[in-house]
Amino acid sequence: MKDKVVLAYSGGLDTSVAIRWIGEKYQMKVIALSIDLGAEKDYEGIRQKALKVGAAKALVVDAKDTFINDYVFPALQADAIYEGQYTLATALARPLIAKLLVQTALKNKATAVAHGCTGKGNDQVRFDVSVLALAPQLDVIAPAREWGFTREETIEYAKRYGIPVPVTVKSPYSIDENLWGKSIECGILEDPWAEPPEEVFTWTKSPQKAPNKPQYVEIGFEQGIPVSLDGKTMGGVELVEKLNVIAGEHGVGRIDHLENRLVGIKSREVYEAPAATVLLAAHLALEQMTLGKDQLRFKARVAQEYADIVYNGLWFSAMHDDLTAYVKSTQTHVDGTVRVKLFKGKATVVGRKSPKSLYSYKLATYDKEDKFDQSASVGFIQIFGLPVKTQAQVQRKLDKSLRKIEEGEFV
Ligand code: ARG
Repeated sequence: MKDKVVLAYSGGLDTSVAIRWIGEKYQMKVIALSIDLGAEKDYEGIRQKALKVGAAKALVVDAKDTFINDYVFPALQADAIYEGQYTLATALARPLIAKLLVQTALKNKATAVAHGCTGKGNDQVRFDVSVLALAPQLDVIAPAREWGFTREETIEYAKRYGIPVPVTVKSPYSIDENLWGKSIECGILEDPWAEPPEEVFTWTKSPQKAPNKPQYVEIGFEQGIPVSLDGKTMGGVELVEKLNVIAGEHGVGRIDHLENRLVGIKSREVYEAPAATVLLAAHLALEQMTLGKDQLRFKARVAQEYADIVYNGLWFSAMHDDLTAYVKSTQTHVDGTVRVKLFKGKATVVGRKSPKSLYSYKLATYDKEDKFDQSASVGFIQIFGLPVKTQAQVQRKLDKSLRKIEEGEFV
């Protein structure tokens, strides 16, 4: 009997060609696995297409809940944003897809998994390293990295074998979407000087055309996890879906990032991530109210490391486990509600409240309710400033303008 391979199947041209190509080159039976992470697609149609182009078996898995609860929300708790801009939608999806590929391979006694990544991107690293961590006995086949086809040659191959070429291949853009965001690459975007044309944006209204009236949303958090929208308790998937629509309507979440790929290439990436933009801002605002100063400072450093780990495909690593444990521990008191104003492309936090708030009106106010003992500041400053004073007296050169005054030469 022929060996089996489980292919992550998107229904697009490359993975459709891959089904046929793997059969030919490796003499293997292909099991096509399509995973619903919230992209609006006809998954039953995709399943049928896989069978039509030659898959021995075709499966669809709805992984939206797992994606949001086990991948996206932990990253939100970590405040993970790569290079200060990218909210990591694709990067967070890859380890989950890899895990489902491995699970399906083991269940079906397949000897390999396959994906449609090229040899130039981050996704190949994320898939391959995840498989190395989870099931190193499995081979990984990456047709688009191996076959060396140009776009035209892929289309030619498809036509030769009666593989339908979707009209969308005419679009010059390469797109990846899931609930946490959409990425757009290629075409005119490869010129970093060119403003992204309006046509690349499908989740967000142009801020210019967004409503002239601001809209306010209230996000409720429990232990750093969003649990309600405008006072209504709901599951993560529904909350993210709703927020994508609301914030997208106000043009929130467009990102233009000249990004450093793991493979050494700088690449211009455009993203739409309305819900992610709002939730990351709201979460951080609630942390500012419920975490101490040192926690906030250290957590910001962890956030950067965490984002790099996710971006670099190291989800199933001990380092990721360790950072996750730290992040979880910081979230114990991150409960409360954040009010965000959406207006003409911007999401601005305008209010926050928490039963665990460290903000004290009585300490902050200058009004009569002031409970801060100002006289205590004198002694505090004497000791706080003591090393500065000591060192300045011994080592610091007298400021030039001050010396002139001392020498009687007034300025
Ligand atoms: N630059 C982003 C990342 O590395 C997006 C990649 C999009 N992937 C794709 N196959 N179109 O996560």
